[in-house]
Amino acid sequence: MTERHHGVKPFARIAGTGKAVPETVLTNADLEKIVDTSDEWITTRTGIKERRIVQRGEKTSDYCIKAARIALDEAGVKPEDLDFIIIGTISPDMRFPATAIFVQEALRATNAVAFDVSATCSGFLYTLNLGESMIALGRAKTGLCIGAEFLTPITDWADRGTCVLFGDGAGAAVLTKAEDDRGILSTYIGSGGDASHLLYCVGHGTAGFINTGKEDPSERVIHMKGNELFRFAVRAMEKSGLEALKLAGLTMADVDWVIPHQANMRIIKALGERLECPMEKIIVTIHKYGNNSSASIPLALDDARREGLIKPGQNVLAVAFGGGFTWGGSVFRF
Ligand code: UT7
Repeated sequence: MTERHHGVKPFARIAGTGKAVPETVLTNADLEKIVDTSDEWITTRTGIKERRIVQRGEKTSDYCIKAARIALDEAGVKPEDLDFIIIGTISPDMRFPATAIFVQEALRATNAVAFDVSATCSGFLYTLNLGESMIALGRAKTGLCIGAEFLTPITDWADRGTCVLFGDGAGAAVLTKAEDDRGILSTYIGSGGDASHLLYCVGHGTAGFINTGKEDPSERVIHMKGNELFRFAVRAMEKSGLEALKLAGLTMADVDWVIPHQANMRIIKALGERLECPMEKIIVTIHKYGNNSSASIPLALDDARREGLIKPGQNVLAVAFGGGFTWGGSVFRF
């Protein structure tokens, strides 16, 4: 049996988690009717069987609020006790105000500072890094970290290379001060812009219509060169995992569960091989939710906890990468 290290003393801990996913399920069979694809192609190339999609009239903040309320209940934290609300999202309600402001208002979290972080699929780990840092510095005691995406409204439903991949949802975690050796043992984040053309969405950014005056419908949707991202994805997540472990003073032998960003089952398997981590220790949700960008890790974390997989005292390693590029890793103990 491996002896457990207790490398670092955590400043913050995850005191509660919650999630919200749309009720509407879009299966691979449904997609066969929309674009030239097949359940066989999607399953073997990605591992996705179905995904949840939002309906007209719903907003990203609606799902953040639902997920946050569940997480707050579990943590026994009142909204007025929150010092921060940070949302990782690339699909906010509006260009401004930040989606976090709408969540703050709905929760009546009057004492919180609320803002969004744009870090693509690493968004949740960026929020965890910021939240943990604020608690470590004594600038906050309690806060909410959320990863939330409505990707299907910004998906090109004529592009089979992307429309089969994405899904919608939100996951939340309440952070409070750590009381013992359980908590966030490390957070590691990074970014680099040398390949930003591989994955982007102009949206309402100044690079688009507002600047050029030319209507271009392609600005509204996600553009991705998936196969060029693939290799980077595996390398970035491996590096992030190893860095996060080093910062936590742990090795893979100490890790009970790995929660990778859910972009592609083949990427997840390749990561497992590189980290020498058996698939039984890797949390996989891609078959039911698809790729939810910054929501994928908190959704998987919440599901794994509620299914009783993650037990008290166990170490979890979360790793992500995304367009930009962005990447990150974090080790936490429940
Ligand atoms: O969330 C973070 C960022 N995202 C990622 O990290 C995504 C990483 N990349 C991937 O997951 C994979 O690259 C994809 C799943 C996006 C694509 O898989 P791939 O094995 O890299 O396929 P490909 O793009 O190289 O395309 C292979 C073939 C092409 O046909 P030809 O040119 O060989 O005739 C595509 O047109 O598969 C075709 N194809 C499809 N066929 C059926 C692409 N999409 C589909 C589809 N159904 N949905």
